[in-house]
Amino acid sequence: MTRDILIAPSILSADFAKLGEEVRAIDEAGCDWVHVDVMDGHFVPNISIGPGVVQAIRPHTPKPLDVHLMIAPVDPFLEAFAKAGSDIITVHAEAGPHLDRSLQLIRGLGKKAGVSITPQTPETAIEYVLDRLDLILVMSVNPGFGGQAFIPAMVEKIKRVRAMIGARPIHLEVDGGVTPDNAGACAAAGADVLVAGSAAFKGGKYAENIAAIRAAAVKA
Ligand code: DX5
Ligand code: ZN
Repeated sequence: MTRDILIAPSILSADFAKLGEEVRAIDEAGCDWVHVDVMDGHFVPNISIGPGVVQAIRPHTPKPLDVHLMIAPVDPFLEAFAKAGSDIITVHAEAGPHLDRSLQLIRGLGKKAGVSITPQTPETAIEYVLDRLDLILVMSVNPGFGGQAFIPAMVEKIKRVRAMIGARPIHLEVDGGVTPDNAGACAAAGADVLVAGSAAFKGGKYAENIAAIRAAAVKA
């Protein structure tokens, strides 16, 4: 079965001094979603942006803002990210004790709900919340930074997550170290959304970079 492959450049790798312009540029370069990495310096050892930046970039693209919350606790901030204009809000299974409640809160805010699992977390950790999900984000690096190397062991997890999804309308997104060299393996294993930070923004050739990742994935 050939799935449409969606490319979601991560603005963590963009020029923060001109984020609006960068979002317009990756939109025009053919991205499908805009991946927004939110980091709190507590759940991950880095600090990035907050709801105000989501609000600021919202007018610069009609494409879905795919907001990846690497924060803990997460529940107190869901409404702010929803009001700021997020379309998909993804929380980490590891960020707190009540994942099912967090996912219900996101859908209650009228947004699509996603869960992300870090490299050491087995896919079984989310098997009882599948019906609360619109997206599963498999981290292929340890969260916190762009430009890290893809962890090959995650390909097996992608396969297992795809099998777990079955016929449910859930996107399978892979995030971290994705390049044209591994995009094919991710797609063949069952991913349909690929996040790319450094591989999308490198050298300023956004359209070329996005097209190369997509071509590698589609060819798989
Ligand atoms: C890492 C973030 C990723 C990262 C992707 O914690 O969740 O989205 O920015 O950047 P690359 O593609 O360079 O690994
Ligand atoms: Zn991310």
